[in-house]
Amino acid sequence: MADTAGHAHDVIEGLLDEQRVFPPSDEFRAGAIIRDDSVYREAESDFEGFWARLAEEFIDWYEQPTECLKWTAPHCTWFEDGVLNVSVNCLDRHIDAGHGERVAFHWEGEPADDTRDVTYDELLAETCRIANGLKSLGVRRGDRVGLYMGMVPELPAAMLACARIGAPHVVIFGGFSAESLADRLDSAGAKVLITQDEGWRKRLKIPLKENADAAADRVPSVERVVVLRRTGDPVPWNDDRDVWLDELAADQPDTCEPERMGAEDTLFLLHTSGTTAKPKGVQHTTGGYLLQAAVTHKWVFDIHDDTVWWCAADIGWVTGHSYIVYGPLANGTTSVLYEGDPACPDWDRHWEVIEKYRVTAYYTAPTLIRSFVKAGPEYPAKHDLSSLRLLGTVGEPINPEAWLWYWRYIGGERCPIVDTWWQTETGGILITPLPGVTELKPGSATVPFPGIQADILDEAGEPVVRGSGGFLVVKNPWPGMFRTLWQDDERYVEAYFSKYEPSIYVVGDAAKQDDDGYFWIMGRIDDVINVAGHRLSTTEIESTLVEHPAVAEAAATGAADPVRGQSIVCFVLLKSGHDQTPELAEDLRHFVADKIGKIARPAAVLFGDDLPKTRSGKIMRRLLKDIAEGHELGDTTTLRDAEVVVDLKQKADLVMGRSN
Ligand code: WTA
Repeated sequence: MADTAGHAHDVIEGLLDEQRVFPPSDEFRAGAIIRDDSVYREAESDFEGFWARLAEEFIDWYEQPTECLKWTAPHCTWFEDGVLNVSVNCLDRHIDAGHGERVAFHWEGEPADDTRDVTYDELLAETCRIANGLKSLGVRRGDRVGLYMGMVPELPAAMLACARIGAPHVVIFGGFSAESLADRLDSAGAKVLITQDEGWRKRLKIPLKENADAAADRVPSVERVVVLRRTGDPVPWNDDRDVWLDELAADQPDTCEPERMGAEDTLFLLHTSGTTAKPKGVQHTTGGYLLQAAVTHKWVFDIHDDTVWWCAADIGWVTGHSYIVYGPLANGTTSVLYEGDPACPDWDRHWEVIEKYRVTAYYTAPTLIRSFVKAGPEYPAKHDLSSLRLLGTVGEPINPEAWLWYWRYIGGERCPIVDTWWQTETGGILITPLPGVTELKPGSATVPFPGIQADILDEAGEPVVRGSGGFLVVKNPWPGMFRTLWQDDERYVEAYFSKYEPSIYVVGDAAKQDDDGYFWIMGRIDDVINVAGHRLSTTEIESTLVEHPAVAEAAATGAADPVRGQSIVCFVLLKSGHDQTPELAEDLRHFVADKIGKIARPAAVLFGDDLPKTRSGKIMRRLLKDIAEGHELGDTTTLRDAEVVVDLKQKADLVMGRSN
């Protein structure tokens, strides 16, 4: 397996070689929406024509676009003279087609008996009442509206209400602090903020209104705060600024004339979940974004009329925007929307929900799958998961071992797993299997979606040889790509399009391609570890550790080393039933050296009970690096649980022989 011979132009060395292949079953292929490679060939011969055809098929336009792509790198427009309204595409047209009574969301609150089915008819009525309410507060086309809420049906309704009146929304994840909220509202210049009294999370009530108040106090653009009653507890109140959502919407008509929007008008801003620096306000459009979300949702997840879809992400992230709200609703899909924590009341909550609603397609993040692995297969075993026919993952590279666990214990060895690679900036999925066509390899996001030209370049901009790692890039525009960063076009150009030619989008991830052309994401470029001139992928080291029977989750980071540049320090969480002993740490160091090569032998393996993660569940390697190097910890405000790092730091200082 190991090959440590570096290539002259390597940006990063590819050392792991995962060989297992899972072709689609005949049965799945026979029922799949896309079952042969003709869409790839169509897009290859004319990617603009391909998207133009889909724009006709997937979107109802008031005025059909006559234009397709205009590309003055790095800026593009798609379907610029097209006129549409996103909420009409997500709601009215399904109702007009006779599907008003179809369930849009099976909503499941965190407290178990708190559930509600919301039909398309009901969602449209609620959307219109909120839209009219916003108008009565003076919100006009082009004004920004902040949404700081939990996972309740009123959040998609509020997003669609904004789309109905042409006011870009800015959703801020309900787990963010008042300060993070204020920064985002301020940078977007939001005029109104919609929030709720409190949100439910892990049986605790999260004080959303209190945080909203603290933020609104600091942000002069916010004129009014609209409050949904969720828990019903009393909250601080400011008569001049605050209004209850039910009171605002109660007397409003449940119809609202949709605004006719240009395809290139802004649908929303969303700040990237970046772990450092000032968050970027990623700007998405009305036409191109909706198209990308709808097409990728339908094809990648193989959505049929009888699909029961569950994307278990939070609407506060782009995954929720594209695959809870816009993609599924544009396709008239029935979804599950779950409010709370996956371990509430216990680790089988998701499996219980899948059984209850007969979910057929389930999409989640590797970080959660690894938590499920840690909890153990006895949890899914308690439930009937036979309704499932497809599984998906997003957000991080998935370790082959976690993939195989998911395949076996959740998918019953019959469900294809689509590992989907994309970003807030890309708007929709760009590298992914199509489940009726693509042979799967655990740990690989496989191949670019039709119409996407991805490549891997070295420092000089030359394609790397197959098998070596480099900079993942996309060489042509796609409809759902972000158009710029809000009020900071310079940063858009500089951060994403300046490394090579301005037409080449630099993703920021390291990746390699195997001999079959499959893409393997190797982590963020900034996280690559350089040991004595060998640039190693965090993902490969972590995947190897997770192959060990005792390991549930691992994170690798580079610590400064006077001799070797960097040395590898690994943080490991064990499966239950294994003890954190020095012998096991030693064993794991050898295990990595055996599997990938001596160069990758960790200098230290540290055990923890948890890892520092961002609120979207990504491991914060910057903090792990601080811990490994014995530095004072940098900014921990974006952490989900700040206690975790204190504990790890104590352990690290002990193991590395530092007294404090
Ligand atoms: C990572 C989430 C490997 C990657 C939709 C990317 C992945 C960043 C995958 C974007 C995947 C996302 N395999 N890595 N399937 N999907 N990533 O903006 O580093 O929250 O650049 O968007 O997540 O994160 P974001």
